[in-house]
Amino acid sequence: MSRLVIVSNRVADVSKSVQSGGLAVALADALRERGGIWFGWDGRVVADDAPINVTINQYEEVQTATLPLNQRDYDEYYVGFSNNVLWPSFHYRLDLGVIDSKSIEGYRRVNQRFARSLAALLEPDDLIWVHDYHFIPLAAELRALGVKQRIGFFLHIPFPPPDIFLAVPEQLWLARALFSYDLVGFQTASDTSNFIRYVLERAEGEQLSESELSAFGCTTRFESFPIGIDVGAFHAMANTPKAEEQIQRIHRRSMASSQIIGVDRLDYSKGLPDRLRAFRRLLELYPENRKAVTLMQISPPTREDVAAYSDIRQELEGLSGAINGEYSDFDWTPVRYIHRAIPRDTLAALFRGSQVGLVTPLRDGMNLVAKEYVAAQDEDNPGALVLSRFAGAAEDLVEAILVNPYDTDEVALALQRALTMRIEERRERHQALIRRVREHDVTNWRESFLDRLRKSRHPVDDETVT
Ligand code: G6P
Repeated sequence: MSRLVIVSNRVADVSKSVQSGGLAVALADALRERGGIWFGWDGRVVADDAPINVTINQYEEVQTATLPLNQRDYDEYYVGFSNNVLWPSFHYRLDLGVIDSKSIEGYRRVNQRFARSLAALLEPDDLIWVHDYHFIPLAAELRALGVKQRIGFFLHIPFPPPDIFLAVPEQLWLARALFSYDLVGFQTASDTSNFIRYVLERAEGEQLSESELSAFGCTTRFESFPIGIDVGAFHAMANTPKAEEQIQRIHRRSMASSQIIGVDRLDYSKGLPDRLRAFRRLLELYPENRKAVTLMQISPPTREDVAAYSDIRQELEGLSGAINGEYSDFDWTPVRYIHRAIPRDTLAALFRGSQVGLVTPLRDGMNLVAKEYVAAQDEDNPGALVLSRFAGAAEDLVEAILVNPYDTDEVALALQRALTMRIEERRERHQALIRRVREHDVTNWRESFLDRLRKSRHPVDDETVT
């Protein structure tokens, strides 16, 4: 079996098991099975003149190979092009981007440096899998260094329609770079078709089959691979004696009979202010929920060096304070807002102990919280999921209560429906949802991508054939 080489900006700690995110666990498992390397940024920012060396750590069959960023690279590659240009524009938020072309040089530079460091570690038979928007040009840089191995790319965030992509500086260069991969995966059919449309309309591309595109003198496969979670592990985590004890404790301490839960990084793409406004509308329109329902919103801080993120924090704190000021009573607090990370096993228990999962991003690649909420439920008495139409998960989880997250009244109404839904309907919806979450679980995602990558048409194979 070929060795697997995973590249992502953040590298998970493969020496630990279980606790970290589901995706990290799934990729680490694949590395452990096949042996391989996880390559990326070590999270450190060093002075501009400090040496940049790769650190290798070995944990049984798996190596991590990480390197720091210097200050200028951090500002241009990470904060600048990745998080101030690509992240907002790929989430359809050109208004929040800092669309200038200066940072692209840093983005290119870091991709070149990472390609050089990675190339030195590769073996001829390696299968390379690159993740997310930080590394779109990595394969092109590796190819320029003579790397011939199969390379796949998976975009974890949405891909925008051509008219939005056109606002990204050097977007033709980015699109061309994707053709250096042997396989490119998107989260949803709609992301894939946005990319295909761009290539056909703007890059004189040709569609050879449903997923094969030819442009810039290359042919590559572009397909959707909806990402999932480890359903069994998450369900088990929500059902331990400790989880049960945590759920009982919440019920004992809270006056409210029902809890709505939201868990998201404090990111503007998650629609958090709109969500709080919808909850306030619920209390206005359906006063029977006062003193009966609590919204628990868990939003750990993220990317605090990017200006748009401090604005959203202030807005959210203001809104939750205003709602609590208006509606709280001595024995009931309507919004419980937690601005820090919570261990995954506690989250699993909180999901199971909450009657409604509220997942209302304005735009999201997939959204695994929606799937985790479904996986955590007690199948005899499951909660209801209110899900944004604009999350990738909505393409599949059609038995959730799907909402337009911009429409405050619609979300308030959906919450009321979820809170008052009869048990038969909850069970019926949950059965359908859990079936879908199981069908598209993380192992299925990973193995179908790797299988397709292994079988993908590869210029090097063509060379040997001729
Ligand atoms: C999203 C991206 C990931 C990223 C994560 C955390 O899920 O798809 O690539 O790692 O956010 O963001 P951060 O900037 O802290 O790595």
